[in-house]
Amino acid sequence: MPKVKVAKMADVQPGKMIGLDVMGKRMLLANVGGKMFAMDGVCSHAGGHLWEGQLLGMTVKCPRHGSEFDLATGKNTKKPFLPFAKAPDLRVYPVSVEGDDVVLDI
Ligand code: FES
Repeated sequence: MPKVKVAKMADVQPGKMIGLDVMGKRMLLANVGGKMFAMDGVCSHAGGHLWEGQLLGMTVKCPRHGSEFDLATGKNTKKPFLPFAKAPDLRVYPVSVEGDDVVLDI
């Protein structure tokens, strides 16, 4: 898996997340208490931009229909609020910090 420098630590303050375009893939990078996490950035229900949603501890809430995903595992922990809707689990990616650089293993 290639390692890619995607951001500087200062680009994502604790409690915040940003969207990234990495090798043609939309991803999100979140800072939880100084630790970085990376996950698919597009909601598996209907394409919501997860980095525009809410970061609630280790949970990302989709801005469109309220699905929630665990940042550590990508697991969908709350379904969309629409009847019968589902949001399959997302992929998460290893993150390392090299100096000031945030590096993803994708
Ligand atoms: S697009 Fe994310 S919950 Fe519907």
